[in-house]
Amino acid sequence: MQINSFNSKIFIEPTIGAGLSEAIDSLAPSRIFLVSDENTHTQCLPLIEELLSGQKVHETVIGQGEANKRLETVVQIWNHLQEEGADSRSLVIALGGGMLLDVAGFAAGTFKRGIPLIHVPTTLLSMVDASVGGKTGINFNGYKNHIGVFRAPDYVFIYPAFLKTLDHRQLYSGWAEMVKHGMIQSQRHFERLMMTRPDNLPDGEMALLIRDSVDIKNYYIASDPYDKGIRKVLNLGHTLGHALESLAMEKNQTLLHGEAVVHGLICEYSLSMKLLGAEPTPYQQLRSHVSKYYPNLQVRADDFPVIRRFLMQDKKNAHESINFTLLENISKPLIDQFIEWDEIESCLRKVAT
Ligand SMILES: NC(=O)c1ccc[n+]([C@@H]2O[C@H](COP(=O)([O-])OP(=O)(O)OC[C@H]3O[C@@H](n4cnc5c(N)ncnc54)[C@H](O)[C@@H]3O)[C@@H](O)[C@H]2O)c1
Repeated sequence: MQINSFNSKIFIEPTIGAGLSEAIDSLAPSRIFLVSDENTHTQCLPLIEELLSGQKVHETVIGQGEANKRLETVVQIWNHLQEEGADSRSLVIALGGGMLLDVAGFAAGTFKRGIPLIHVPTTLLSMVDASVGGKTGINFNGYKNHIGVFRAPDYVFIYPAFLKTLDHRQLYSGWAEMVKHGMIQSQRHFERLMMTRPDNLPDGEMALLIRDSVDIKNYYIASDPYDKGIRKVLNLGHTLGHALESLAMEKNQTLLHGEAVVHGLICEYSLSMKLLGAEPTPYQQLRSHVSKYYPNLQVRADDFPVIRRFLMQDKKNAHESINFTLLENISKPLIDQFIEWDEIESCLRKVAT
């Protein structure tokens, strides 16, 4: 399955095949650099090693986890490229989750003003989200994704086979972004995700669900590649999701991105019902799905002022109201909905412990 997206050719394949080596041949690189992290080096590289055989590959192994999404890691990659004589026709292959793709994409997009790049995403979140759309970057001075460039990879190879070694929470974190895709664009996709569990799904079925999600994300990227307007639809669940993520970080709790997003989706759908008359059935489906497969949200009423502070930091807000993407119904998104804090607080009360 092939999707063309923002200067990238995206291949979604139920089995790991020869596509990757053909893509490398078509780029005719002067040298090949592979960036992995300590987990993808051991768990994912062996699955594609055969496709790289016969080529000399220079590997940089970076540290795993969000804490490594920083300038020092980019410097580590730049140093390796320079030491091994990379030129403007050298290729970077990024093998990892969203953190690694963002960092390696940034390093490749800035080295000699940009060198060829292939993304091989290995988490579900990076397959349906981070590998698509050309956003790269790092965290800086405590601010997430504050430095970066748009740099779409030349190719993306999505192989669900990598998901076998991914832990349950990481898998469901990516699933949450797929649920969001269904909610903004496709009742059918949403319903299928509510009825399916990602664990032990055959690779062929997972590939089809991933394709539907990538198609939806790609629709908004094609309409607004540089994120100036309609691409904001993809923020559904993220306005509150980011505030919940920041709160968890401040309280030293572990909350994965998709876990924060899925609770953000619940709250924002509840706002959509109250303010835009969205139907209640999807809300019930989502709540029941989340209560079965996701950790409970550790938020209490005395956390609300902190959540409010995080929400107010967003520069898209106007005066005292906060800018949301909401839904008139499933697959009917509305951007730039400015909501007062009191409304938000009453929805948060429903999910607080
Ligand atoms: N560029 C974009 O458009 C975009 C979109 C969404 C998210 N992101 C970014 O993505 C990052 C989150 O990505 P993520 O959720 O993939 O997290 P991640 O990249 O940190 O990976 C999560 C963990 O899984 C491990 N891992 C990766 N693949 C594995 C596999 N197949 N088997 C076993 N372990 C594996 C990693 O080493 C890591 O420990 C954030 O930095 C976020 O900002 C970017």
